Amino acid sequence: MAKTLRVGMIGHGFMGKVHSNAWRQAPHFFPLKAKLEMHTVCGRNPAGVQAARAQLGWQFAATDWREVIESPLIDILDITTPNDAHAEIAIAAARAGKQVLCETPLALSVKEAEAMLAAAQKARVIHMVCHNYRRVPAIAQAKRLIADGALGEIYHYYARYAQDWLVDPEVPLRWRLQKPISGSGTHADINVHLIDLARYLVGEFKEVCGLMHTFIKERPLAEGAGTAPEPLPKPDRKKDRAGKASAPTGDPNPGAKPVQKLGKVTVDDAALLIGRFDNGALANVEATRYAPGRKNHMAFEINGSKGSLCFDFEDMNRLKFCDRACLPDRQGFRDILVTQPGGVHPYIGQWWRAGHLLGYEHTFVHTVADFVNACVEGKPIQPTFEDGLKNQRVLAAVEESVKTRGWVRL
Ligand SMILES: NC(=O)c1ccc[n+]([C@@H]2O[C@H](COP(=O)([O-])OP(=O)(O)OC[C@H]3O[C@@H](n4cnc5c(N)ncnc54)[C@H](O)[C@@H]3O)[C@@H](O)[C@H]2O)c1
Repeated sequence: MAKTLRVGMIGHGFMGKVHSNAWRQAPHFFPLKAKLEMHTVCGRNPAGVQAARAQLGWQFAATDWREVIESPLIDILDITTPNDAHAEIAIAAARAGKQVLCETPLALSVKEAEAMLAAAQKARVIHMVCHNYRRVPAIAQAKRLIADGALGEIYHYYARYAQDWLVDPEVPLRWRLQKPISGSGTHADINVHLIDLARYLVGEFKEVCGLMHTFIKERPLAEGAGTAPEPLPKPDRKKDRAGKASAPTGDPNPGAKPVQKLGKVTVDDAALLIGRFDNGALANVEATRYAPGRKNHMAFEINGSKGSLCFDFEDMNRLKFCDRACLPDRQGFRDILVTQPGGVHPYIGQWWRAGHLLGYEHTFVHTVADFVNACVEGKPIQPTFEDGLKNQRVLAAVEESVKTRGWVRL
């Protein structure tokens, strides 16, 4: 009889919702080697976590993650908290013998990531970092084509992850914009996915040169927006939204519009890198949250001696492939709709008929399904914490390059 694995999940924000859906759906669509029980969800606010428990389909709710980790009932610990909590929770979970799935980026620093990997290896638990984009069927198909040699020798990895939600200066100072909680901005949040895909599809980085910039340096303080903020840095000066100097806080000025308190953005708004891979290919990578019209434009083009591949997450069921073996009069990018079941395209056989499209949530179902089977088999499953650590080293090398204004070797 299949064994049962009980899952505990820490955090129930955006990723908590996405992961809950994946834990719920995976057993219905994939041949899992264990039964799953969505046992306990954990958040800090008792009313909030109770509401999440009921809505997201968990049996129990907890307000202290240590309780979940210490429970002998829990087999798998899923971490969906902001970045500053990943290391402490993952290390404690590994020491308690739980199999650990952790959101991205793995950690705040290389040092933390090293400690997480060491703890997981010492405890001999299964560890995975949730770079879900590896399990977009079109990207998994790109990996197959590259492994088959369809691109030949790879020359270029050109990638851009562009969003537009920070263009509005009224967007408040959330945890993602505070370095002590997030580590860095676009770099840790979205560049890390491009870096992970670069390593997955092309190879290890040899050296990088980076550029990072913060366009809007102060934003409104938002008490209680998203994750409860840590004590926020005090704004250097008081400004109204038009940027004019205004009265100091506490100055009674009846009838005047209340002064909006501002806090300092301590992370990058855009992060770019150029680099070289060990295999000689070149990288050109850019992440920004200041690209009006771009919502989740996670895109790349890979060029090789035999052909090219092109992908855009906003059209995620499609892979564009140029094959130089075609006759010259018909060469160019051809569209592959990556929805063919019957073992033709990765993961598709568990879902719908050809042409019936998949979405963002499916990539997490694939991640959870592969993770559960790896837990039962006791086999490592990529991307492991070691991948998370390697990604963290590239993130750090880019930051070092920005500081020193030079190239940094990995
Ligand atoms: N894989 C991806 O594509 C992807 C996408 C978005 C976010 N992420 C990552 O997922 C993580 C969470 O991001 P999010 O957008 O869901 O954030 P969020 O702010 O929406 O949710 C975070 C949740 O964690 C809870 N939390 C914070 N500290 C806690 C603690 N000590 N104990 C218990 N609960 C705690 C908060 O209450 C909240 O429920 C981050 O690491 C982020 O970088 C990854």
